[in-house]
Amino acid sequence: MLKGKKIIIGITGSIAAYKIPLLGRLRVKEGAEVQTILTEHAREFVTPLTLSVLSRRPALTAPFDPADGTWHSHVDMGVWADLMLVAPASAATLSKMASGMADNLLVTTYLSAKCPVFFAPAMDLDMFRHPSTGENITTLTSRGHRLIEPQVGELASGLTGAGRMEEPEKMLEIILQHFAEAQQFAGRHFLITAGPTYEAIDPVRFIGNHSSGQMGFALAEAAAGRGATVTLVAGPVHQSARHNGIKRIDVVSADEMLAAVADNFACADVTIMSAAVADFKPQKVAGEKIKKQKQPPAITLQPTVDILSKLGKEKKPNQLLVGFALETENELQNALRKLNNKNLDMIVLNSLRDKGAGFGTTTNKITLIHRDRKIIEYELKAKAEVATDILDAVSTML
Ligand code: CTP
Repeated sequence: MLKGKKIIIGITGSIAAYKIPLLGRLRVKEGAEVQTILTEHAREFVTPLTLSVLSRRPALTAPFDPADGTWHSHVDMGVWADLMLVAPASAATLSKMASGMADNLLVTTYLSAKCPVFFAPAMDLDMFRHPSTGENITTLTSRGHRLIEPQVGELASGLTGAGRMEEPEKMLEIILQHFAEAQQFAGRHFLITAGPTYEAIDPVRFIGNHSSGQMGFALAEAAAGRGATVTLVAGPVHQSARHNGIKRIDVVSADEMLAAVADNFACADVTIMSAAVADFKPQKVAGEKIKKQKQPPAITLQPTVDILSKLGKEKKPNQLLVGFALETENELQNALRKLNNKNLDMIVLNSLRDKGAGFGTTTNKITLIHRDRKIIEYELKAKAEVATDILDAVSTML
């Protein structure tokens, strides 16, 4: 299944490094090409020779070999890889990855990697529990990197708790599952909207909202990561799409978003409206900046088109339509009403009453409500992980 897949294993200074040769099966049985990179400290826990023999490639630590001057380009390796696994990931390396502290070959390669990154922490329980470790892990997962949770058990220190690196067999399963998922949406077209819309009052001012677009961009990255062709219609946001499979269309107003969505809806297998589209816009847009007056000016508003409702009326039986509902009260009731009225296949409910959910945060807490009224509540998670949950639900519907 992994035949020809190119995998970098980054190994850091933790006792769990001695288990990494068990990942040799990646090459021997699964047919992957494996490049190992060790930090200086990792060499004290596992020998480069063992890793070189198992991977049939020199295990690297330094960017060049002083004996013959051979240069090992982190940039080339970063482009080469289909997946990078950092295991065991020590507290020090997690910190370097989170802050971009590129002082060794492993971290420079990580910074150059364009592929999905998985990391399996291994450390003593107090180090794992420390807020700085937690913050670094949150930073990495919010970038879309995949945490392979450490297990609870007896640690090398003699203490018992969370911090034991996941077993190599389980990591292999996770990698296999990742490559299986990478083709899950191949041949499918996803249309995703993200961010706010701005409705102009005059050339200087607008009516807008606090949406950052993070959720929609995370969905677009995740869908493209599973092989979909993605059209991402983005309102005014400070986000960038990294995956080559994403075609981005920038818009400002609800009318522009409507036009971009209308142009792309017919060929979309799955449409996810995560944008916070303005419900109203000023009836008239002043041609010049409105000057300060004694009496505050009245701004008369008119409704925008409800894009999602329109799509709900037009959708064909083979098209899936997913909406979002951001609520502050009567959450479930309101979301069910939107699911019904807008003829959706699924609605993603988030409540501003949940701490860490909604606009501007890197996390979200969602409830998924399916067409058949099946309701699933999820924990508070990084938006990249929330995107995974939403796409898992979409894949069961497809
Ligand atoms: N939506 C849309 N076009 C609009 C307004 C909303 O397509 N003009 C979509 C949003 O992208 C979201 C869903 O409708 O997927 C629900 O948006 P939300 O603002 O929660 O609900 P509204 O229908 O606007 O109702 P209300 O503001 O009263 O809660």
